[in-house]
Amino acid sequence: MVLPYTHEPFTDFTNEENRKAFEAALKQVESDFGKEYDLVIGGKRITTDKKNKSINPSNKEQVVGVVSQADQELVEKAFQSAKEAFKTWSRWDPKVRAEILFRAAAIVRRRKHEFSATMVYEAGKPWGQADADTAEGIDFMEYYGRHMIELAQGKPVNDRPGENNEYVYQPTGVGVTIPPWNFAFAIMCGTTVAPLVTGNTVLQKPAEDTPVVAAKLVEVLEEAGLPDGVLNFVPGDPSEIGDYLVDHPTTKFVNFTGSRATGTRIYEKAAKVQEGQKHLKHVVVEMGGKDTIIVDKNADLDLAADAIVNSAFGFQGQKCSACSRAVIHQDVYDEVLEKSIEFTKKLSVGNPVNDTYMGPVINQKQFDKIRDYIEIGQKEGKLKIGGEIDDTNGYFIQPTIFAGLDPEARIMQEEIFGPVVGFTKAKDFDEMLDIANNTDYGLTGAVISNNREHLNRARTEFDVGNLYFNRGCTAAIVGYHPFGGFKMSGTDAKAGGPDYLQNFLQAKTISEQL
Ligand code: NAD
Ligand code: ALA
Repeated sequence: MVLPYTHEPFTDFTNEENRKAFEAALKQVESDFGKEYDLVIGGKRITTDKKNKSINPSNKEQVVGVVSQADQELVEKAFQSAKEAFKTWSRWDPKVRAEILFRAAAIVRRRKHEFSATMVYEAGKPWGQADADTAEGIDFMEYYGRHMIELAQGKPVNDRPGENNEYVYQPTGVGVTIPPWNFAFAIMCGTTVAPLVTGNTVLQKPAEDTPVVAAKLVEVLEEAGLPDGVLNFVPGDPSEIGDYLVDHPTTKFVNFTGSRATGTRIYEKAAKVQEGQKHLKHVVVEMGGKDTIIVDKNADLDLAADAIVNSAFGFQGQKCSACSRAVIHQDVYDEVLEKSIEFTKKLSVGNPVNDTYMGPVINQKQFDKIRDYIEIGQKEGKLKIGGEIDDTNGYFIQPTIFAGLDPEARIMQEEIFGPVVGFTKAKDFDEMLDIANNTDYGLTGAVISNNREHLNRARTEFDVGNLYFNRGCTAAIVGYHPFGGFKMSGTDAKAGGPDYLQNFLQAKTISEQL
């Protein structure tokens, strides 16, 4: 019997035993630095001459792993092996497919600190953030496995006298999964196992910055019993294989999470019907955010400052859900700003191996981009704290607050994806909502208020996919806060929610005249 789903608990790092276990995992992962990781196509490991070095963003000298790179020829092989595997995998009993996910979740749970420690080195994640990332990946497997078992029953439809009607789901075919680096395990795992458990076969191209943790998931799924060819692991340079994966006439769906630029490109390209293609591609693109916390005049101001600071600076602000805009009622603006600055002063920044609150940003490109936005912010508003940067050994940026910004300022409109938050003042709740809704994005948002009427208005008038009241705007939990955005944040597929698996299924109506 499958027990009801509950989310994976987070590790209590105030417990000395847990700290020791985590330190041991960090040592173990460090002893694997430089290890080589292969492609996996049709169950066979393939080493290529071309390699990608996965670098520790806290210490650029450290190579976490060396990963073989697929070219178009190898991707073509992967398509053929996925096509072949689909013939049998698609017919497996959904419950047995779900059991593979449950076994994989159990294996990751046993190796939990190893997965989290890998992300400390490979993604620059602080301990707690890495632990939450691993827990979320486990949750995706537990949640989607259970949901598949439910969906295998189909959905009720009406019968008429003399007619028996059924509404059932069947797998779609071969698809492509393209995850980002920021939830290096959770999103990579969730976007991969959802199409698998629904009976599809997949080519996964991991993010260039975090392929090692992705290779570890492949190992786990193999150990859990996933048959050869069902998941094909094809790391590679996106400029070489990205379009090939998306354009391929075999591709039935693309499951993408990442930037707006890449997502919209994929959306557009996948719409074109290629020669030999006899279907329309289903595309899930979950993209960026420019997320706002509104603070009303009668709010709990400590809670407000805490929510802003943690949502803005957790994992260095590198979350699509991160708070990058604080819109504050004029009567409490100065107080919330002061409290936020005071809270920010207490945050530690450094190599996350040492359990700092913040680590580095992911790579040189992001570091340079954030540096440029800090320069822009200095022209557009007033720098209240932070702004210091250092890329001598790793890519470190201090948590940065700008105040007095025009709501239309670039700092308030463009996704920065780093530890930078802009503050602006509003005269009343109408203006707060107007400002909150004035970007192209619509991913997360929060309202800190004790005014029930304002909270009720926000339910319909705050145009975001994930709306939070009296808390921060990050840290959605699978099965509790299904996650996906409106507007240019994407297709609102709601990962970790009851409508997600249907993206990878075809619904079929069967009607029999009796
Ligand atoms: P990115 O778009 O640079 O890369 C995402 C993935 O796309 C990577 O695997 C990359 O290799 C691949 N890619 C790049 N070019 C490609 C191409 N031409 N064809 C096919 N694949 C290609 O994004 P990123 O920097 O990895 O991630 C950060 C972005 O992701 C931010 O904008 C963030 O807001 C967004 N994000 C969104 C969500 C969400 O659920 N909405 C969650 C996490 C991250
Ligand atoms: N699901 C992640 C969060 O809510 C992106 O922060």
